[in-house]
Amino acid sequence: MRTFVLWSRGITSPDFNLNDLPSSGKRIDIVARCIISALWLSHALRRDTRIYAVLYGAPEPPKTVLFTPEIKRVSPDERSIAIWLKKALNKHRGRRDKEWVTLSNGIKISGKSFQDVIKELADEGCSFYVLHERGKSIEQIEIKENPVFVLGDHKGIPKNEEAFVLRKGERVSLGRKSYLSSFCISVIQWICDNRGIK
Ligand SMILES: C[S@@+](CC[C@H](N)C(=O)[O-])C[C@H]1O[C@@H](n2cnc3c(N)ncnc32)[C@H](O)[C@@H]1O
Repeated sequence: MRTFVLWSRGITSPDFNLNDLPSSGKRIDIVARCIISALWLSHALRRDTRIYAVLYGAPEPPKTVLFTPEIKRVSPDERSIAIWLKKALNKHRGRRDKEWVTLSNGIKISGKSFQDVIKELADEGCSFYVLHERGKSIEQIEIKENPVFVLGDHKGIPKNEEAFVLRKGERVSLGRKSYLSSFCISVIQWICDNRGIK
């Protein structure tokens, strides 16, 4: 199973405008695009990938929303994904616990932080790759099975969070240009497909 973990600053409540997803720096548009790039092929959901969107920002402590191939009734457009993010955040409004809560269509949400998610994945025995412009070239990296690719939003991953993952993994680069997070996910999926990595 391939896993993506997106660190996103922006909003932790459902109070964002579906007609203006980038509004006021909340950048739900970035989260939605990353989910689409991670999970969809042209006419089907990928069966080999899941993505954790770890949301930071006002007004609540962090929330993690998990999209897996078991999800139903979600289409690969930003608005549809944003509607489900809103439903998930609504369901978890005011909660501080770290139990997973599952929505009717299989999307899960919890109060887990980024480091909680990384620890959970480390316990599963996954290997970690932090996407960063100044990492080692992906062409020189052997990607092991059950890889976890960690990436940041438009402003990148905070240093302390990155350092936490780097205790378990390494920095990987797609080149020195800074690409959109969702584009990085598409490229990683293409590389893993070509290398036959599960
Ligand atoms: C738009 S970039 C953020 C750039 C931000 N200015 C920074 O300093 O991190 C969003 C995320 O995509 C990933 N990324 C962008 N370009 C990359 C590259 N060339 N190689 C690897 N990862 C990249 C990184 O994880 C980054 O945090």
